[in-house]
Amino acid sequence: MQRLQGKVCVITGGASGIGRACAARYAQEGGRVVVADINKEGGQAVVEQIRAAGGQAVFQPTDVSEPKQLEALLQRALDEFGDVHVWHNNAFKSVFKTIVDQTLEEFDDTIRVSLRAYWYGSKLAVTHMLAHNGGVILNTASVQSYFGEPGFSAYQVAKGGILSLTRSLGVDHAPKVRAVAIAPGFIITPAHDGIPPETIERVKASIPAKRGAQPEEVAALAAFLASDEADYITATGIIMDGGYLGI
Ligand SMILES: NC(=O)c1ccc[n+]([C@@H]2O[C@H](COP(=O)([O-])OP(=O)(O)OC[C@H]3O[C@@H](n4cnc5c(N)ncnc54)[C@H](O)[C@@H]3O)[C@@H](O)[C@H]2O)c1
Repeated sequence: MQRLQGKVCVITGGASGIGRACAARYAQEGGRVVVADINKEGGQAVVEQIRAAGGQAVFQPTDVSEPKQLEALLQRALDEFGDVHVWHNNAFKSVFKTIVDQTLEEFDDTIRVSLRAYWYGSKLAVTHMLAHNGGVILNTASVQSYFGEPGFSAYQVAKGGILSLTRSLGVDHAPKVRAVAIAPGFIITPAHDGIPPETIERVKASIPAKRGAQPEEVAALAAFLASDEADYITATGIIMDGGYLGI
């Protein structure tokens, strides 16, 4: 399918996991992709993989916590491809502690990457889209946007905020700009490296689907949501969790 033919797609956190899979899928669907990440080696590798498969992509080294670097990311997309149609905020940072143990600095660091960057990236992209050909904001949220998971504190604040931001963007800027949050449950990515295998097995057993999902499954959803086929979906979140929340 070539549902993103000619569309320019920007994705943050594109060097790994869900972002990497989305970048590859957007390119497979005919999109011209700008991969942004703090991880230069990983980001460049994704671009090479896309080009080897016949797709179009460039890498822009970006620390999303720095507003000037987000401005440079938008400019790179415009310089390379002339427009931006899909802007996918996806990078994250987290500290797995309750509020008792979390420091103010850890909270600020988490929010800068996992929420403020979504707000500022959206501000830049929406402003451009409204003045040009419209577009779609995708925000990677989480099941934690909907329920309380023990031990996450600041991350959960960010993920709740991302869903609210998405609703706000969607109602303010329809119909020219759509905004959709993707709320994954347990996706098998390097984000889980370091979690004890027995914890992983316990989580999987509690999911009705009895498995974690591959990042490519999230990418398939993202490609649909980014495409015109999803034109009636905006200002909302789509949960992809194997039935974990049951809502
Ligand atoms: N894996 C899951 O089970 C799961 C579940 C729910 C939500 N999510 C969300 O999915 C998104 C992607 O997570 P993932 O599992 O693919 O993680 P991942 O660790 O595989 O990828 C995250 C990427 O973000 C990049 N990044 C971190 N800080 C950055 C910064 N300051 N600037 C630019 N890039 C930065 C990393 O270098 C990395 O490439 C996140 O928003 C995460 O909260 C993941």
